Amino acid sequence: PAAESDGPSSLGFTELSHRLSQRDAVAPGHEIQTVIRWGDPVLADAPAFDPQAVTAAAQAQQFGYNNDYVDYLPLPHGSQNSEHGLLVVNHEYTNTNMMFPGLGAGRSAALKASAAQAAAEMAAHGMSVVELRREGGRWSPVAAGRLNRRITAETPIRIGGPAAGHERLRTNADPTGTQVLGTLNNCSGGNTPWGTVLTAEENFNVYFGGAAATTGEQKDHYRRYGILSESLYSWSRHTDRFNLDKEPNEPNRFGWVVEFDPYDPTSVPVKRTALGHFKHECCNHAISADGRVAIYMGDDERFEYIYKFVTARRWHPTDRAANRDLLDEGTLFVARCLDDGRLEWLPLVHGEGPLTAANGFASQAEVLIETRRAADLLGATPMDRPEDVEPNPLTGRIYAMLTNNTARGGQRLDRANPRAANAHGHVVELIPPGAGTSQVDHVAPVGRWEIFLLAGKPGVDAGARYHRATSDQGWLSCPDNCTFDRKGRIWIATDGAPSAAGVADGLYAADTAGYGRGLTRLFYQAPTGAEVCGPCFTPDGETIFLAIQHPGEEAGSSFERPTTRWPDFQPGMPPRPSVIAITRKGGGEIGS
Ligand code: FEO
Ligand code: CA
Ligand code: CA
Ligand code: CA
Repeated sequence: PAAESDGPSSLGFTELSHRLSQRDAVAPGHEIQTVIRWGDPVLADAPAFDPQAVTAAAQAQQFGYNNDYVDYLPLPHGSQNSEHGLLVVNHEYTNTNMMFPGLGAGRSAALKASAAQAAAEMAAHGMSVVELRREGGRWSPVAAGRLNRRITAETPIRIGGPAAGHERLRTNADPTGTQVLGTLNNCSGGNTPWGTVLTAEENFNVYFGGAAATTGEQKDHYRRYGILSESLYSWSRHTDRFNLDKEPNEPNRFGWVVEFDPYDPTSVPVKRTALGHFKHECCNHAISADGRVAIYMGDDERFEYIYKFVTARRWHPTDRAANRDLLDEGTLFVARCLDDGRLEWLPLVHGEGPLTAANGFASQAEVLIETRRAADLLGATPMDRPEDVEPNPLTGRIYAMLTNNTARGGQRLDRANPRAANAHGHVVELIPPGAGTSQVDHVAPVGRWEIFLLAGKPGVDAGARYHRATSDQGWLSCPDNCTFDRKGRIWIATDGAPSAAGVADGLYAADTAGYGRGLTRLFYQAPTGAEVCGPCFTPDGETIFLAIQHPGEEAGSSFERPTTRWPDFQPGMPPRPSVIAITRKGGGEIGS
């Protein structure tokens, strides 16, 4: 660890100043490139982007709308190539009124979308896989790359694991309960040691309309997941499967983790039901000392839980096919943070403890379909909106971004969620046995937890707690996504910065050990209305990719009158969610 004499932070960049602007900004000495924007071609026959002609046919071949999770997978598979790889990106949701002219301002404008517009929105959801190359210092997509792929709300996906085929997953279109069209609200994600990508279905409830109360799922289940009669989108008016009157079980087919192989564009993605049914934010893996794989996950809603899934078998480092269905068998655990600093992982196993027929769980499938209720009965700790939950590969400590929760109140405080009105969120470390050694035990049902930082402006927001040397620019609000650099330092992206305080969302970096532990520094700030997602380094640490989603998502903003036209700034061109690459001028490792 660094000594105090080394200075407070090991991060070697000049901090940016907090700002609120139509344009984004990065720390001095760095360069921002736009890599790919909403509507840019992905597949060979994709038409050029025309904001006046956004159709389903065009969108299904172009880069989708809002971009959240970003992964960079080197080509060929198994290499450390930092100049040629696959960019994999989630398209979480659509801002209907910013996509199409004439709908006006506000999210409720989405309800006005026509059948053709709704179909275009469905095609703008899902994922993109894009081959990228860096040449002469510039990152660009490979036109019609052989592995380029779009996954949309209409792509055939298999359902795997213990809940596959269960009667509560069967529909008129799929009486087997094993085949579903599409993946929705893919927020963050993760990857596996065998080179597949995991994508997390988060707020899947917002697409469904119709009479939720008549489905038979309302009392204990749909209400718990926010599946109500009112939808945020028009889809249920135009497409039967989003209408609960016609397909009451369709919502049970979303809210899962989906695995797919980006190195095989013909592979069928699989919903891995063993990993639970909730508003999945992320799914980040760690390899335990014994070779089994743990996947850490957050359920992003107020008072929801942190989970981990542990595979039943070891992964096979040299036989990719042997890992194909590894995620169908294993144990799902939910976290309890005790006030004395101990951490318990409680297994969600049918027949154990309260998870029995007497409590309405006839099988493991039902434990998984109603993951939240099962976790309630086990006594898990309700957290302040778990977003990214990601292991630091250097230490094995897991970092949970708890983005905010203003509804906790004084009655429900605990030491891991210590603020009654938590407007700015906090970061908790989960520490497995063996953390800091080469033998980290991610299988063990126990560990410890510690608070890493409490966000907000020091001296202004009650309870904010950072390193004492944190500057006026270095404090943050609403941690959402994170990643780690090659030195084990954390890079935290935010969603929900207080614009009233003149702060946009951004990317902050901090040491996780040594004298600079927890000293966050501002590296990048987004254009107005946008959140910062991704973040993802190339293996050499010289590029960081960020997904800038929903630029201009603000009160009063619309297609015709957006509050920013980032990144093009052309008349008539709406703002476009985009992936950017940041590099150092003159090259070198970022943050070194
Ligand atoms: Fe899609 Fe939890 O943010
Ligand atoms: Ca998120
Ligand atoms: Ca992450
Ligand atoms: Ca977010």
